[in-house]
Amino acid sequence: MKIFTLFSAVVLSLGATVSAQQNATCSCSSLEDRHIINIAQAEQAIAAAQAQAASIRVSASIAVTDPSGFLVAFRRNDDARLLSVDVSQRKARTVSLFAGAFTTQALFNLTQPGAALSGITETNGGLVALGGGVPVFRNGFFIGAIGVSGGTSDQDVVIANAGVQAIGSVRA
Ligand SMILES: *[C@@H]1O[C@H](CO)[C@@H](O)[C@H](O)[C@H]1NC(C)=O
Ligand SMILES: *[C@@H]1O[C@H](CO)[C@@H](O)[C@H](O)[C@H]1NC(C)=O
Repeated sequence: MKIFTLFSAVVLSLGATVSAQQNATCSCSSLEDRHIINIAQAEQAIAAAQAQAASIRVSASIAVTDPSGFLVAFRRNDDARLLSVDVSQRKARTVSLFAGAFTTQALFNLTQPGAALSGITETNGGLVALGGGVPVFRNGFFIGAIGVSGGTSDQDVVIANAGVQAIGSVRA
């Protein structure tokens, strides 16, 4: 009994310490408060992107990353080309690593030989400068990115934009 009481007291005091530390470092809590895409939003975006992909008969892979470029959610359709699994995730990650400053479509011209960002796609383990990577802004903040691969560049853009519009906007 004594041991149990002591144990409870330790657990309670540890819990209080952790809460106090959390308050000291960050007065906010939810991903929404921190302007980071959450799983509900990511799944909503994928559903909207998938509906668009189906309507134009494209079998795509659809990836959603957070503002740091880490994967939040992913969908690969049965008939999507296997290379689209990697390419879709790299498109989303590329947008995140630029903090939403560019779509991957806009990067295409910028990364041509002699252009301002020529060679940048060889960095960070390989970036992708083909259409289909689009930032998601919400309340003016960059919260994450969507990357689509499977159709033509233009089709991938249309699909990714449908995903973005379900939960935010392409620009701040
Ligand atoms: C942390 O902050 C919240 C809201 O400001 C407050 O309700 C809560 O009591 C605080 N917790 C601690 C342990 O200070
Ligand atoms: C890329 O360059 C081509 C040819 O110069 C131009 O027609 C096109 O609009 C440019 N695309 C973007 C997204 O800036």
